[in-house]
Amino acid sequence: MNNITSLEKRESVKKDYDIIADEYSEEFGRLYEDIEVVNEFMAKLKPNSKILDLGGGTGKLTDLFIQKGHQAICYDFSKEMMRKSQEYYPNLPYILDDMLNMEQHFESNTFDGIIAFYSLFHIPREDLNGVFASINNLLKDDGIFCFVVQLGNGEQFIDEPYLKEQGKGVLYFNFFTKDLIKQMLTNNSFETLFETEKTEVGENELGEDGNNKVFVIARKKTK
Ligand SMILES: C[S@@+](CC[C@H](N)C(=O)[O-])C[C@H]1O[C@@H](n2cnc3c(N)ncnc32)[C@H](O)[C@@H]1O
Repeated sequence: MNNITSLEKRESVKKDYDIIADEYSEEFGRLYEDIEVVNEFMAKLKPNSKILDLGGGTGKLTDLFIQKGHQAICYDFSKEMMRKSQEYYPNLPYILDDMLNMEQHFESNTFDGIIAFYSLFHIPREDLNGVFASINNLLKDDGIFCFVVQLGNGEQFIDEPYLKEQGKGVLYFNFFTKDLIKQMLTNNSFETLFETEKTEVGENELGEDGNNKVFVIARKKTK
């Protein structure tokens, strides 16, 4: 994929979520998937924590965190996903921007917790280390970072059923290896607290061999 810039990859993801926002949100926009991992993340946070929900989509997790007494903000770059958020969860705090720009919106050491649920696999490989570094910078010392990514081999444009319905078939993914996960965490001073894998097979899953996901909860190491 050397002929496409990282900006072009991210712009294509943004456009694609604008296209599929209605259908995607209808199915997943209020569904609490993998809630046991989200609960594990919350269990590691103090009451009234400040939480950033990166690539938060409709903001369902932001809303959940607020219901649980935390201060949370949703951050996503698709204006159509933000429109769905306003429909489902009116008045939810929301920043509409690319997560590569997150440090323009917040000061260092702002958050107790940052979660990136099903969003880091749309970050181009060349931008990944910078995103992990920004997350580390925005977290307070001992802050908690939770994310889920899909295992596989590198960057691919793959079939996305909702896009197909709209006459455009493929969406950009950056699949992770376990080594890449480890490298990103180590390079950016995170210590892993919890890691679990899940394989799901079904017609809605990505890839013929099913969908291997890794959930990670890590802590920012104190300098
Ligand atoms: C699969 S959805 C996940 C939404 C939500 N976190 C959830 O678990 O349902 C991926 C979301 O990440 C957002 N996203 C992808 N790349 C992004 C980027 N570079 N900056 C901000 N948001 C991004 C998309 O717009 C989309 O809303």
